[in-house]
Amino acid sequence: MTNTLTQEKLIVEKPLTGKVAIVTGASRGIGAAIAKALAAQGAQIVATHQPTTQTIHQVVKEIEEAGGVVHTVAVDIAIPEDTQRLVEETIERFGKVDILVNNAGITKDRSFRKLSREDWDNVIDVNLSGTFNTTKHVIEHMIAQNYGRIINISSIVGQAGAFGQTNYSASKAGLIGFTKSLALETASKGVTVNAICPGYIETEMVAEMPDDVKESIVSKVPIRRLGQPDEIAEAVLYLISASFVTGQQLNVNGGLYM
Ligand code: CAA
Repeated sequence: MTNTLTQEKLIVEKPLTGKVAIVTGASRGIGAAIAKALAAQGAQIVATHQPTTQTIHQVVKEIEEAGGVVHTVAVDIAIPEDTQRLVEETIERFGKVDILVNNAGITKDRSFRKLSREDWDNVIDVNLSGTFNTTKHVIEHMIAQNYGRIINISSIVGQAGAFGQTNYSASKAGLIGFTKSLALETASKGVTVNAICPGYIETEMVAEMPDDVKESIVSKVPIRRLGQPDEIAEAVLYLISASFVTGQQLNVNGGLYM
């Protein structure tokens, strides 16, 4: 934090003051925690939610009550025109985009023998192509200003696999390759690109898992519990501050995968 003494008033500047951050899938779970954490550090937030979601209002209320700035946009990140509109609205309202957190993601869990082509396409379209879409529309802005932080929320499942998640794990492994390749291309242009691989975090997505599967996973986590969304937000804050870190996958999983 920078402290400035102005006319006998101590002004404490938050580390992300003046920064503009887009967080996709910010209506709940990990995305909501990231949006709130970045706003608390002074960033102006553009929070996306699915066109059908109502619960973004709670996140907006919490950010504004804490003195933060947030603008919401209904976006289906699988649709390129939607992500183009998202970035145009961000530039129009805040003049730039410094940070992009590609968090929005879905699951359609089924064993591969039962998995339809539609289940495959839906998950790849949102989790992997959705990240292509948002990143495609911010990248020129970041390069032009010689500053950017792109953080892709991958998963332990992209590293270790999981029963019933061939589609999801392919999408999340794809994000790791995407992260490393884009990091190489933008490293000399002020733009870092990193991935976070959360383990099993206490969200609605994990709550929907069968109890026996969930219990069996938690019993194997060395830290012996599910993670909290705030613990992923802490990793996002670290990667924003880390100017010499790019192309990495940061594991936040209680030690489940090393
Ligand atoms: N491990 C081992 N075997 C399993 C299994 C598992 N987790 N789940 C099912 N099976 C077995 C069944 O016992 C059955 O065996 P038999 O053929 O010998 O009878 C066979 O697999 C087929 O079972 P189902 O017909 O029940 O399989 P299904 O196609 O309906 O799929 C499932 C079941 C949807 C995969 C269900 O097990 C499930 O929901 N598992 C949890 C998936 C999961 O881990 N999701 C994580 C969500 S959180 C997340 O993704 C966030 C993140 O990034 C970490």
